[in-house]
This record gives sequence, structure tokens and C-alpha cells, in this order.
Amino acid sequence: MINLFNIVLRRGAKVLLDKASVTMQPGEKVGLVGRNGAGKSTLFALLNGSLHEDGGEMQMPAQWQMAQVAQNMPETDESATDFVLDGDTRLAALQQALKVAEASEDGMAIAHAYTDLADAGVYDAVPRAQSLIQGLGFRPDQLDSPVNSFSGGWRMRLQLARALMCPSDLLLLDEPTNHLDLDALVWLEGWLKTYAGTMVVISHDREFLDAVTNVTVHIEHGRLTRYGSNYSGFETLRAQQLALQQSAFSKQQDKVAHLQKFISRFKAQASKAKQAQSRVKALERMEKIAPVLAEADFTFEFRTPGNIPNPMLSITDASFGYPGEDGAPPTVILNNVSKSVLAGQRIGILGANGQGKSTFIKTVAKDLGAIAGTITEGKGLRIGYFAQQELDVLRPDDNPLQHMIRLARELGADAKEPSREQDLRSYLGSFNFGGEMVLQPVGTMSGGEKARLVLAMMVWQRPNLLLLDEPTNHLDLATREALAMALNGFEGTLMLVSHDRALLRSVCEEFWMVGRGKVAPFDGDLDEYQRYLLDEAKRQRELAKAAAAAPAPAPAPVAAAPKPAGQIKPLQKELATVEARIAAISVEKTPLEERLQKNPAASEIAELGRKLKALGDEAAALDERWLELSSRIEELSA
Ligand SMILES: Nc1ncnc2c1ncn2[C@@H]1O[C@H](COP(=O)(O)OP(=O)(O)OP(=O)(O)O)[C@@H](O)[C@H]1O
Ligand SMILES: [Mg+2]
Repeated sequence: MINLFNIVLRRGAKVLLDKASVTMQPGEKVGLVGRNGAGKSTLFALLNGSLHEDGGEMQMPAQWQMAQVAQNMPETDESATDFVLDGDTRLAALQQALKVAEASEDGMAIAHAYTDLADAGVYDAVPRAQSLIQGLGFRPDQLDSPVNSFSGGWRMRLQLARALMCPSDLLLLDEPTNHLDLDALVWLEGWLKTYAGTMVVISHDREFLDAVTNVTVHIEHGRLTRYGSNYSGFETLRAQQLALQQSAFSKQQDKVAHLQKFISRFKAQASKAKQAQSRVKALERMEKIAPVLAEADFTFEFRTPGNIPNPMLSITDASFGYPGEDGAPPTVILNNVSKSVLAGQRIGILGANGQGKSTFIKTVAKDLGAIAGTITEGKGLRIGYFAQQELDVLRPDDNPLQHMIRLARELGADAKEPSREQDLRSYLGSFNFGGEMVLQPVGTMSGGEKARLVLAMMVWQRPNLLLLDEPTNHLDLATREALAMALNGFEGTLMLVSHDRALLRSVCEEFWMVGRGKVAPFDGDLDEYQRYLLDEAKRQRELAKAAAAAPAPAPAPVAAAPKPAGQIKPLQKELATVEARIAAISVEKTPLEERLQKNPAASEIAELGRKLKALGDEAAALDERWLELSSRIEELSA
């Protein structure tokens, strides 16, 4: 049991916890929620002992083994599999003990070490590690690639796999979905549901929290409040509490009025009808949750861009990818792309894992050169690019004001906003960086605060083409809502990559699909897209399977006079069982796949997806076993 009693916790001038108390029972799955900067990550630092309370008392069983995701970027050239294996600290310790025993030639100790290793699961450690890695979206041929050959986001996925590999009583996860896309996210939900220990997870993703938690701890105004339900349950309960407060209620009314105005304005225009429709849905949802969101203490808007070229961009016969190093040929990810981006378009960029969404956006943003073809920009194009790595662009020792001053200086006469220090301060104030925060070094800020600053710097430049690559990571729900509102009012063109289904639904009017080396329009809605993702995952698995099967020997002709018949028999028997199960799996999958075709509800899609994935995984493992068995049989009968 974890017991916090009258805890006081300060950071800088802020009191994050003020006599806060809460209890978490063993085995509970707890969602820790609250606004950006409320102190969630700081509370984790208290739980893992890297920070101490300024008052009160914390109790936790001393023998509990804790697992958490390291926040640093791993630089090692160890293979992905070995790196994740090392996450199992118990195995590592036992292997060390074995080495010591062997060095001292202590027979008893060696024997003990072997038994302990077996108990700790040494024999299936590699497949366990590899199924974690693949579950998080890596391809089978990447299992042995060195960690430092992967891009930042993928290395952070390996850090996550490493934490999951560690046998633990308490698992602390701070925004684990930030680096994931939809298919890896669904896999992680499935994995966490089977986790036996106590889990505390910080997240701003409502659907994810609902899937994996059954208790919610809300941190607000220095207090911790425990709710015995998942996130939706918490919202409802809290909405009821807040609805009692007149002020919250009147704020909600303002928001409803705003939405209604939006809907009536856009219903008249056929081209915006779909968007209006999604606002109607948002309005329905608000009836219940608005009181929670009414806390939103800030909204912002994009200023009218000066002029908007049309077309914004023309892409002709372009190839996208990465230049080869040291004269090696370039890696082409997308080719023969010819597309125009027009003024006022709102494009959602879709695509499965690793298909090139970020590469596409990065090239349009001119962070990468096109490998072939041309990208012509309209006159007066001003790009606002928001990428996840953008947070690293901030200077940890500088404060928000210094960042704005530097930006104003860089733009010089090109700046469209007033840029005296006082103007910059009040601009920052409008993004909720008030008073002392204007002078707080960025390095000490929370993830969401940094993301908000990057957003503020982008808006200030008055872009007319917004390229947003996962902009909602780190942002709390109220800030996401503010972003969605601002994007709806934006007059320029938008290209958006996001795993936030709510954001895609509310701001995009058309979708482009990046995949199989192409960029093509996607004539469907998000539900159809989710089905596409499942199909694509299946296709990838089949490709991998075909690649693995190709060089393998054909199954042995049974008639070929087997010599050591005694050894072959059991293998053949197992082979037959494996074949029967493979056939059974394909039968089991059919009705599930058929149900998917019939437009089921979103929750059912997720459930079906999980079942199909489990069957797919089992089939993949059986396929491997089948290959092993048949080549063994062939060897023996040769
Ligand atoms: N050394 C420091 N000096 C001043 N303020 C600090 C310091 N360290 C942290 N803070 C402030 O403490 C607050 C809590 O930070 P924390 O990272 O715990 O927030 P969080 O709830 O995890 O937010 P997010 O949802 O954005 O991740 C933030 O407002 C942050 O700016
Ligand atoms: Mg945090």
C-alpha cells in the first residue's frame, strides 16, 4: 500500500502539494491526472525517491521493486533486444551472481545460480523481450539493430519496452503514449491490462486512461483527490461537483454559445457541413464534461495571416527520404509525389507506423531536402512548423521572455507583431505565462509548459501554412481544446499529423494517406482508417512471414525413409498439432474480420482489434515453431 499523509512539496516559488493525502492499494491501476504544471511528474519524483517531501510522510513497502521509463535518450550500440533484456534487473543480478560463483568455482553456488536463473525466466527472456519490442511497433528485422541506429522517438519506445521488461511491484508511467502511434497504443493498452502489480500512470489521453485504469487521483490546487473509477467516471463525478458551482456553470454557457455560433455559421456552407457536424457532436459531449473543461483558464487564436498565396505549395514528381551517408545511395521512403496544397485546406495526414508521415512534413517544412523532384512555394509563404523534437530547440537555461526576445530579433523587420519587451510580456501572459513564469528557466518547466511555449512562439510568427506533427503530446485536455478551437478559427492552411482522434475529427476536412511509398487521398472517415491500420499491421506481419519462410527448406517428404525414427515421431506429432492450430486460428479470425467490416462502434473495433492481434501473434509464433520443426525433421531424415 502507498500512503501519502499531509505531504507538502515545493518547487521554486510554487507549492505543488499542500498537506495532500491519498492512499493507493496494492494491485490498483491508478490514473494520475491534472493540468499542465500541476505537479504530476514531481509527484513521481517523490514516489521514486529522487525528491523528498518538504513536510508530511510517505509510506511504501520497502521490498517493492519499482519500474519506470528512463527519460534520457539511450546512446548505446547494443542491439535493441539486448538493451530491452537488460531492463530485467533481476536476471542481470542473477547472471552476475553466476559469474561470481563460476569464478570462485563454488559448485553449490553455481547450482543455486542456475536454479534461480531458471526461476527468473531466463529461458524465455529473449522471446519476451522481442514480443515487447514488436508489440511497440518494431519490425522483426530490427530486433538486432543497434539502439543508436533508431530515431529519437523509436529509442524512447525501447526505453518503454525496457521498463515493461522489468519484473515489478510498482510501475510508474509518465505519459507513455507520447511517442506511440495508434497501433502501438492499442497494443500497450492490451499489455497493461494483464500487468499484475500496482500501476500509476500519468496521461492526458482519455481513451487510454479509460482502457487501463480503475482509480483516478486528481491533483489540483495542491490537493490530491481520489476517485474510485476510470477517467470517464472521474469526469462525471467531478462534473456533478462542479456543476454546483455557479461560476463554472456560467463559463460553460459561454463555451456552448461559442460552439453554437460556430455551428450556425458553418451549417450554411455546404463545404463546412461536415465540420459543423463534428461540432454538434462536441456540443453533445460538452453537456457532461464542460464543467471540467470550464477550468480552461486560457484560449488563444491565430492572428489573420497577412496574405495567403494560392497554391501554397506545388509538389512535382518529388521523392522524400533521407540522404545516404558517405556517398551511400539515399533511402527513399515516398516517391512520385505530385500534389498541390491550396489556400484554406485542412489536411489530416494519416499513415501506419513508420510509413513516412514525419518525413513528408519535415520535407515540406524544409528541414529535409527532397531527394528528387521539386517543391515550389507560393510567394509570401510563411511556414509554422511544430514537431515533437521542437521541444529540444528550447534553451534550458533561458526563460520564456528571453526566447521571445531572441525570436523577435531573428525575425527583425519581418515580424508582424509588436516586439517591445512589454508587448512580449503581455503576449506571453495571454499564453498563461504570467508573473514569475516569464522569468523561469525553461529547463525547470513541465512538459506541457514547454509545449505551450513552443506553440506561443509559433503563433507569434503569424504563419499562413501550419505543419503540426503530433502537437498535442504533453498538452492537457483543456489546452488541447483551446488548440482545437484556435485551429478551427485559423484562416490559413493546415497539415496535421496526430494520434489524437478527437483533434483530427474536429479540425480536418480531408485526409491524405501516407503509405506503401505513396501519398494518396483517403476517402474515408477515421473509423475506416482505424480498420485500415489493422489490415496494414496484418499485411506487415505476412510480409515478414513470407521473408522468413522464403529461404527455409521445404517440409521434409515424410516418405523419405527416416533413419532415427524414434526422434522424428514426436516432432511429427507436434508438427501436426501446430498445423491444426494454425488452421483453427484462421477459422477463428474469420467471424471477427467479418464483424469489423460491418461498421461496429469504436469500442468494439478496439476489442476486435485486440482479439485479432492476439490471434495474429499466436499464429506468428506457431509459424516459427512450424519452420523449426520441419527443418529439424528434414535434418534428421537426411
Ligand atoms: N526548479 C524549479 N523551479 C521553479 N519551478 C519549478 C521547478 N521545477 C518544477 N517547477 C514547476 O513545478 C510545476 C510542476 O511541474 P511538473 O513537471 O511536476 O508538472 P506536471 O504536472 O507533470 O505537468 P505536465 O502535465 O505539463 O507534465 C511546474 O509549473 C514547473 O514549472
Ligand atoms: Mg509531467
